[in-house]
Amino acid sequence: MNAHDAFELIRTRRSTRKYLDKPVGEEALRQIVEAGRLAPSGSNSQSTRFFVITDPALLAELAVTVKEEFAKMEAAPGMYASMAGAIRAAKGERYVFHYNAPALIVTANKKDYGNNMVDCACALENMMLLANALDLGSCWINQLRWLNENERLLRRFRELGLMEDERIYGAVALGWPDTESGLPEREPLPRKGNPVQWIMDS
Ligand SMILES: Cc1cc2nc3c(=O)[nH]c(=O)nc-3n(C[C@H](O)[C@H](O)[C@H](O)COP(=O)(O)O)c2cc1C
Repeated sequence: MNAHDAFELIRTRRSTRKYLDKPVGEEALRQIVEAGRLAPSGSNSQSTRFFVITDPALLAELAVTVKEEFAKMEAAPGMYASMAGAIRAAKGERYVFHYNAPALIVTANKKDYGNNMVDCACALENMMLLANALDLGSCWINQLRWLNENERLLRRFRELGLMEDERIYGAVALGWPDTESGLPEREPLPRKGNPVQWIMDS
């Protein structure tokens, strides 16, 4: 295993929010979802469920549902800034929560399992890293988690295979980046946070 390449893959993963109207390809999606399935899970529970969505009609339908459900809400003081931003944006004309990416992988887990979101997060990061290795753009998408008790979305995802005791805890948009080079943006954002304290032998 080459540690340098592995570190580069991690270092250069960035969020992509503009995608070409070009399918990802089934082989790449299969590899990516397998990377998600290989993520660690609490007590090896392996209870994350993956919905790999490439059906343009369903992606368009979800975009409309999410926009309409957010538009019904009001941004409140003290609300998580991204969620308030989504509510405000959804009241505008052109809000598409998945950025018109050609593929969206949604992760769900048991609602009463303490590591539900953490397990999904491990899977999502694995998938974003493999997407980077494949020169695909990716972006974590949280709107379906924020709406994971929304009856309309629950009903729709149950039709797609979500179990009664499961909820959505995150998603990843995937697609070919709409950049000049055709490659994802790879310059890491400066790290101003994430402090590290070293406690070493004295
Ligand atoms: C838990 C979590 C939720 C996120 N939700 C969204 C989201 O809903 N939409 C979005 O565009 N980006 C979302 N992001 C991406 C972050 O905005 C992004 O990782 C951050 O700005 C750093 O940029 P980078 O990924 O390019 O390094 C999310 C990231 C995480 C880890």
